[in-house]
Amino acid sequence: METQKRDAWSSNFGLVLAATGSAIGLGNLWKFPFITWENNGGAFVIVYLVCILLVGLPIMMAELLIGRRSQKSIVGALRDVAGPAWKFVGGWGVLCGFILLSYYTVIAGWSFFYFWKSLGWTFGGFPADLSTGDLFGAQVGDAWLQFMLSLVFSIATVGVVYFGVQKGIERVAKVLLPVLFGILVLLLVSALGMSGSGEALKFIFEPRFGELEWSGVLEALGHSFFTLSLGMGAMITYGSYISRKQSIVKSAGAIVAFDTLIALVATIIMFSVIFSVAGLSEEVGKSTVGMLFISLPELFYTVMPFGTVLGPLFYVLVALAALTSTISLLEVETSFLIDERGMKRQKAVIVSGAAIFVFTIFAALSFGSTPVLSTMVAFGKTGWFSIADHFVSNWMLPTGGLAVAIAAGWFMTRKATEDELVDGNQPDWFRYGAWRFFIRYVAPVAVLAIILAVILGRDFS
Ligand code: PFF
Repeated sequence: METQKRDAWSSNFGLVLAATGSAIGLGNLWKFPFITWENNGGAFVIVYLVCILLVGLPIMMAELLIGRRSQKSIVGALRDVAGPAWKFVGGWGVLCGFILLSYYTVIAGWSFFYFWKSLGWTFGGFPADLSTGDLFGAQVGDAWLQFMLSLVFSIATVGVVYFGVQKGIERVAKVLLPVLFGILVLLLVSALGMSGSGEALKFIFEPRFGELEWSGVLEALGHSFFTLSLGMGAMITYGSYISRKQSIVKSAGAIVAFDTLIALVATIIMFSVIFSVAGLSEEVGKSTVGMLFISLPELFYTVMPFGTVLGPLFYVLVALAALTSTISLLEVETSFLIDERGMKRQKAVIVSGAAIFVFTIFAALSFGSTPVLSTMVAFGKTGWFSIADHFVSNWMLPTGGLAVAIAAGWFMTRKATEDELVDGNQPDWFRYGAWRFFIRYVAPVAVLAIILAVILGRDFS
């Protein structure tokens, strides 16, 4: 078997952009605004920030350091740093990435549909009698359309990962992330000028602790895994391409900061629009999809300044953000096949992409078009998509995150982790002892609390 030269990021900047691209995705634009809404903003946002800082950041560092130490993808990495039996934990991560990518692609595909539609509205005018709820229902219920949207998105993902870490993933992230930031700034400026922006800011940032329930605290914690792409090896895989010259602590800090900033900005934008229409705010938060794909499309064309231009741009933003996430998910699968099965990258990408797409079809058809898939029930959830999301968000990511914390905190030696984090390039504020305390005690206890809550019947998907 001929060995392939291991890919690597060309620079620290490349890693930070690619990993930030992985982190920023539907979690920031689709899930976070919705759960902020459901949990009454304010106190929830503060708790979320605390979770990101105290649990997300230490685990982010742990994943990156496990990757760099081993220079392997998740299965080999955990086996190398923590012991032979840990390859099963790695396998759990590979499975998680497989399932997550299979259904994530479906929502990502919807953004294409809305981009296309909104372009039509920009040039042809928004039809006065259009019900966006009906449009959404027709879109998700059309099996052929769902199949095609998911297929196009899957091909885009495969197309990027095919070219490898530097020439594919890094190159695309370097172009897409600045575009994404640019679009967000335009949207933010326009949203802040709207009449509802003051109320939106108050809703998001005014701490009203009386309104937060314990379940909201756990939801904030659960979401921090999803949004930072933790718990399934994406950051271990990306970490395996980091060179010794880069600082893991600085990179982790930057990735976490960007991801959090974008989640907040997206929420400010959406809520400013929503609060600008009297009465709308009550009905908008009924479902996650409702906010992004039912309320917003109309609002762009009816109330938002420059909405006719910003509408299509917004859906491009959703698509691009999703793409930089799906490529990291596919890279987990690809690098596993390269490292553990000795496959060539191109073959590995196509094999894993095709296998995952089979399951994407199930998810794509589970919104009404195919009754067996839309009505099946498991874990108290109805429909293939919801069941898969429930299983990943509730069971797989938290257990994966717990495993990473235990591997880095309890199975790796102090010297090994210290060597990686205190690598000579670490920032002044970093205290190794504090990290070690968080990864050994705080993160496992916090994640165990989520797992316990799930066992007791709480739902975070
Ligand atoms: N972090 C992504 C988001 O917020 O949408 C989701 C995700 C991507 C999770 C990649 C895990 C992953 F490996």
